[in-house]
Amino acid sequence: MNILALSGNVKRPSRTASLVKVAADRLRQRVGGHVQCIELVDAAPVLFRALRADQLDTEGRAVIAAVEGADIIIAGSPVYRASYSGALKHLFDLVDHRALTGKRVVLAATGGTPLHGLMLEHQLRPLFGFFNALTVPTSIYALEADFTDHELRNPAVLERVDRAVEEVSEITPALDIGAIAASAKHSGLAA
Ligand SMILES: Cc1cc2nc3c(=O)[nH]c(=O)nc-3n(C[C@H](O)[C@H](O)[C@H](O)COP(=O)(O)O)c2cc1C
Repeated sequence: MNILALSGNVKRPSRTASLVKVAADRLRQRVGGHVQCIELVDAAPVLFRALRADQLDTEGRAVIAAVEGADIIIAGSPVYRASYSGALKHLFDLVDHRALTGKRVVLAATGGTPLHGLMLEHQLRPLFGFFNALTVPTSIYALEADFTDHELRNPAVLERVDRAVEEVSEITPALDIGAIAASAKHSGLAA
């Protein structure tokens, strides 16, 4: 199980990266596998060397391959100008439009005002709708005040993290049985 902790932060330290990593870690404890972390503060300078996927260099292709190869993505962003960060959008502009079909996705964001929590529902969820990914119902929104020294401390938000993790784990076995059956058929093992 490849779990990708993908954070649209463009500075460090980052509350968003911290939130996304907590969620990925709790998910790994629940479903197993391993966690890979990508922060746009590192990836964006590489990805912006390309304006189209066919212009990606080796380093950029590796970033996109990690996104396209993940089984589960925890996708988080700081709210910037009432949306997710432009750096995160650029990454998804470079992802093949068929590559995320059926992937399980948890949505997360951090912001300065509670008024922008619905960015998750009105902007980030539709992005994954475009990709035909399976976003779980519970999204996670945390305010700056929910963190101490960039560590998530608010128990109510941590409870939402656990709920989202539970929702992913509920749909994981069924999908994996499907994947195992498909791979058995491919290798000629199934009737
Ligand atoms: C350029 C910029 C734009 C921002 N725009 C918003 C906004 O529209 N709504 C909001 O709630 N917070 C906004 N914020 C606050 C950030 O979303 C918030 O500080 C977030 O936790 C930063 O995440 P990070 O620590 O991962 O970088 C903005 C911050 C910056 C620097």
